[in-house]
Amino acid sequence: MKNIVHIVGTGTIGEPLIGLFTDFKQHLGIDEVTFHKRTPMKTERAKVAHLMSRGAHLATEDDKSADFEALGHKVSYSAQEAMERATVVIDCTPAGNENKETFYKHLKGPRGFLAQGSEFGFGKMYARGINDSALIPGEDRFLEIVSCNTHNLAILIKTLGMVDDKLTMDRAQFVCMRRSNDISQTKDFSPAPTVGRHDDEEFGTHHARDVFHLYETLNLRPKVFSSALKLNTQYMHSVWFNFELTKPTDKKTVIEHLKENPLVALTERKSANEVFSFGRDHGYYGRILSQTVISTPTLAIADKGKEIVGFCFTPQDGNSLLSSVAGAIWLMDPTHASERIQVLKRFVFQEI
Ligand SMILES: NC(=O)c1ccc[n+]([C@@H]2O[C@H](COP(=O)([O-])OP(=O)(O)OC[C@H]3O[C@@H](n4cnc5c(N)ncnc54)[C@H](OP(=O)(O)O)[C@@H]3O)[C@@H](O)[C@H]2O)c1
Repeated sequence: MKNIVHIVGTGTIGEPLIGLFTDFKQHLGIDEVTFHKRTPMKTERAKVAHLMSRGAHLATEDDKSADFEALGHKVSYSAQEAMERATVVIDCTPAGNENKETFYKHLKGPRGFLAQGSEFGFGKMYARGINDSALIPGEDRFLEIVSCNTHNLAILIKTLGMVDDKLTMDRAQFVCMRRSNDISQTKDFSPAPTVGRHDDEEFGTHHARDVFHLYETLNLRPKVFSSALKLNTQYMHSVWFNFELTKPTDKKTVIEHLKENPLVALTERKSANEVFSFGRDHGYYGRILSQTVISTPTLAIADKGKEIVGFCFTPQDGNSLLSSVAGAIWLMDPTHASERIQVLKRFVFQEI
């Protein structure tokens, strides 16, 4: 039986994911990559043509095929056919929950489905390197890849607020300073810092809520609270963090602990544009796949060793992409997923 990965959506997340799967498909144990695009667009002709030249096959609704073909694209499958023949479907649209109700839960063929961070309730929350042990082969068919900032919060908790899989923190607070919009997006640019509401009484914003539920899959309940604002930059999200610990620590121990985690990058740099630029030269099409980039000069130990404070950067959408690939190949074949994902190791940096 062929292993087929089908990606729905060609936006900020879908486009690089289709590219990653086509470029590394042999290493990832995949025979065919298909993708669904909803809207035929002249402005996106080059993008679709390039993804197809790299080996991906286009699927769309029957009533859109002629318009795609008029743009010069070969349509290989209908949208329904592509979903039915897929081994794994990765939803990269803001309509993952809706698509689950309308299509995914009625499909017998695919072994599993993934959706992105905005689709709360889609399935078991997952972040690579955080809760791999919570995934149950044969049982977990629906996974929600947590958002990029939630990945960052999750790895901070793992490295600053835990030792040997046990929480060593009383409480952690985060301020997620989000980039205005992605460099691929033209809408929703923020001209000035714009602060966000605390919609969630217990957690503040969805970032802390999601990271709490992510850790709940491991039967852990970290006390966390987050705030968010948008900055007028397109480079990267930045995060301020404050951990209140149960026992005192020192800076040397904290840095050693951070260095032990292969998904953490440390940097002496303090400017997001320098980190972003490093990604442009050494990452996968500009993307750093590490889960966080911690600015070591900003690390401070306060309250006689019982608080850790600092800043870090969220490497764009790189961490969500890595977890999307890891989750998809786990659904295809849980026994070989850890070894297959190593092909992307060269884009996961420990020093920037
Ligand atoms: N941007 C990030 O950094 C980031 C990071 C983590 C998670 N996420 C999450 O990932 C998801 C996708 O975000 P994005 O930034 O990639 O969005 P995007 O750039 O706006 O792209 C959305 C894509 O989904 C397609 N689409 C929208 N509604 C659809 C539907 N009902 N059926 C089929 N296709 C549909 C669009 O197709 P057409 O253009 O062809 O119509 C487009 O290709 C969201 O849930 C978002 O919250 C985003």
